[in-house]
Amino acid sequence: VHAAGGSFMHREIHEQPQSTERALRGRLDERFGTAHLGGLNMDPRETRAIRRVKILGCGSAYYVGQMGASLVEELARIPADAEAASEFRYRNPIIEPDTLYVAVSQSGETIDTLLAVQEIRRKGGRVIGLVNVVGSAIARECDGGIYLHAGPEVAVASTKALTNMFVGFALLALQLGRVRDLSIADGKRLIAGLNRLPGQIAEILEQEEELAAAAARLAEADSLFFIGRVRGFPVAREGAQKFKEISYRHAEAYQTSELKHGPLALIDEALPTVAVVPSDELTDRNVGALHEIAARRGPLVVVTHEDVDLGELDAVRIAVPRNERELDPILLTVPLQLLAYHAALHLGLDIDKPRNLAKSVTVE
Ligand code: BG6
Repeated sequence: VHAAGGSFMHREIHEQPQSTERALRGRLDERFGTAHLGGLNMDPRETRAIRRVKILGCGSAYYVGQMGASLVEELARIPADAEAASEFRYRNPIIEPDTLYVAVSQSGETIDTLLAVQEIRRKGGRVIGLVNVVGSAIARECDGGIYLHAGPEVAVASTKALTNMFVGFALLALQLGRVRDLSIADGKRLIAGLNRLPGQIAEILEQEEELAAAAARLAEADSLFFIGRVRGFPVAREGAQKFKEISYRHAEAYQTSELKHGPLALIDEALPTVAVVPSDELTDRNVGALHEIAARRGPLVVVTHEDVDLGELDAVRIAVPRNERELDPILLTVPLQLLAYHAALHLGLDIDKPRNLAKSVTVE
């Protein structure tokens, strides 16, 4: 399978152990259990004054923004949410002085995100950027930021930049948390978890053969569901986005908890579900939902942890290594990149340049 990877996307997926390490380098303060983010241009007093975090991005950057919002809420206990930048500026947003706005963009050139940044700054708000391309328009317009250090990303579907966006959010949440109530022990626990990510991503990439086999079967379906809940839901959304972008199959994400409120009506042997089931306080409920799907003969691929007991469930099981629960979402995302990649490869599609899409959309 590895030899099949002549595309940029394949190369970029496999670069992630190194690129995540670059995102962390020099930014971890082991002694105080916090992050060093000099580019934020905020002193501790300003950092403490933040009462809300609003994250803006488009496409995958928006979905990873939802993962980032959970990190901020869990680690810093500051209310946080993510919104599509393309929608935000059209609803005359209320800009508050004690909100930290975060613009997320690989290219730093996405027009919807750039115009959202300009709208916020015009109204006196403070915006930081999580941006990959150094010196890009969004990076220049922000009050400060965190460069992603993913290196050049060529494939339209974002992989290594997205992973570093997650790491950037973890560092930001750690710093916001450590000027508030996050303990030094918890800070150190998170730092140890972050340091484990590169090796754990490498372990997941070793399962490429199983993922390729599962992807080939999924690619035969016209339509798929991706499901997850709470921390797992943005993972499912990102997984569906990747799959539809490059395989041109209809892929839709739902909260697992919403299945019985509608989507279950569609489940049969022709509609596979990719389920994100981390080992957490919701595992039993999630596994219960999978049995509902299996009872209706829906094919299942379950991305989960080793210790999760699926019972007698008839499913393809992909286990990822466990990290700290806050950091699990990014490890659960990596197999979904390979599922999308191998589905598109199986279908013989142009993986790096999917039809109708551009790497960055710079016109309105
Ligand atoms: C879209 C791309 O047009 O832009 C997505 O198709 C990407 O893959 C999104 O996630 C945002 O791009 P950027 O450069 O702002 O992260």
